Amino acid sequence: MTLDIPVADEPKSTANLMPDAQIVTAVRHWTDRLFSFRVTRPASLRFRSGEFVMIGLPGEGGKPILRAYSIASPSWDDELEFYSIKVPDGPLTSRLQHIRPGDQIILRPKPVGTLVLDALLPGKRLWFLATGTGLAPFASLMRDPETFERYEQVVMMHTCREAGELDYGRELVGSLRHDPLLSEMFGEGFAERLLYYPTTTREQGARMGRITDNLTSGKVFADLGLPPMNPAEDRAMVCGSLAFNVDVKAVLEGFGLAEGANSEPREFVVEKAFVGEGI
Ligand SMILES: Cc1cc2nc3c(=O)[nH]c(=O)nc-3n(C[C@H](O)[C@H](O)[C@H](O)COP(=O)(O)OP(=O)(O)OC[C@H]3O[C@@H](n4cnc5c(N)ncnc54)[C@H](O)[C@@H]3O)c2cc1C
Ligand SMILES: NC(=O)c1ccc[n+]([C@@H]2O[C@H](COP(=O)([O-])OP(=O)(O)OC[C@H]3O[C@@H](n4cnc5c(N)ncnc54)[C@H](OP(=O)(O)O)[C@@H]3O)[C@@H](O)[C@H]2O)c1
Repeated sequence: MTLDIPVADEPKSTANLMPDAQIVTAVRHWTDRLFSFRVTRPASLRFRSGEFVMIGLPGEGGKPILRAYSIASPSWDDELEFYSIKVPDGPLTSRLQHIRPGDQIILRPKPVGTLVLDALLPGKRLWFLATGTGLAPFASLMRDPETFERYEQVVMMHTCREAGELDYGRELVGSLRHDPLLSEMFGEGFAERLLYYPTTTREQGARMGRITDNLTSGKVFADLGLPPMNPAEDRAMVCGSLAFNVDVKAVLEGFGLAEGANSEPREFVVEKAFVGEGI
């Protein structure tokens, strides 16, 4: 199901803004449990592609309900984009899923996070490994030319249970491969530098299987014509559930890669896509 709600001509209200308020400019529903939206960007907000901020809505009694959200747009964009789950009885997303252009949301302009280019050593290939809404930080990094200045190849592996849950990422990668600005910056062969490996695990699809399995079996390397992951050439960023992150970390360490951080760049970095065991 895809529902486009056009950008409002005029925000419903620019008066009486809440503290840290931003105005919703566009909303798109991808499935009954996933949507993306764009908001105005605070003039003072500087962030590194891949970081997250706290966003939310006013709660009962005036105390805001705030949650961590990866910024899905790149650092150069005039607006901010987010890619969100809809948790049926979630304190925030049960309400956030109903936002419309012109509405206000709260956005605390203090970006942080580990999924930043500076937390990795230079290398040849950068792997983005995501499940579900864990794609969001990579939607930012894939749109940042600096990613392609630093790495010859970028591989986006995204796995969801069902095919429809891949649509946001699929559409984004498709548009980036034909992006005139990126092609102008990096030449006609740019499309081959952004490799995409989407898989489903519970619905039949063109490619299937968990990211961990496709790495350990070597299937992804064979399918993409790449050598097995190795610490001399490969770097990785990981974003999914806690269980996914733990399992991928072990796989990457098996290939000889070590976990880094902003303060100590190494071969891979990890961040949770959400807290908890799942809905
Ligand atoms: C660093 C970080 C970055 C995050 N970035 C995003 C993002 O870009 N997009 C996004 O949708 N969420 C993101 N989250 C999760 C987000 O903070 C909220 O948990 C989510 O919006 C649900 O809020 P809620 O109040 O409705 O429900 P909560 O009470 O927060 O969660 C209810 C239940 O839903 C599960 N859940 C929460 N978020 C997800 C999810 N994204 N996918 C699957 N299950 C989930 C939780 O495990 C919990 O069991 C991020 C979390 C962290 C820690
Ligand atoms: N996705 C849906 O259609 C759907 C619908 C309603 C409710 N929910 C609920 O929403 C919650 C979150 O669902 P989600 O689909 O966003 O996230 P998820 O359960 O983390 O699954 C997302 C993807 O990650 C894979 N995965 C999970 N754990 C992994 C691990 N340790 N190593 C490697 N791959 C792993 C899953 O494969 P597997 O399929 O092999 O586990 C799936 O393809 C769940 O509690 C679920 O019950 C989901």
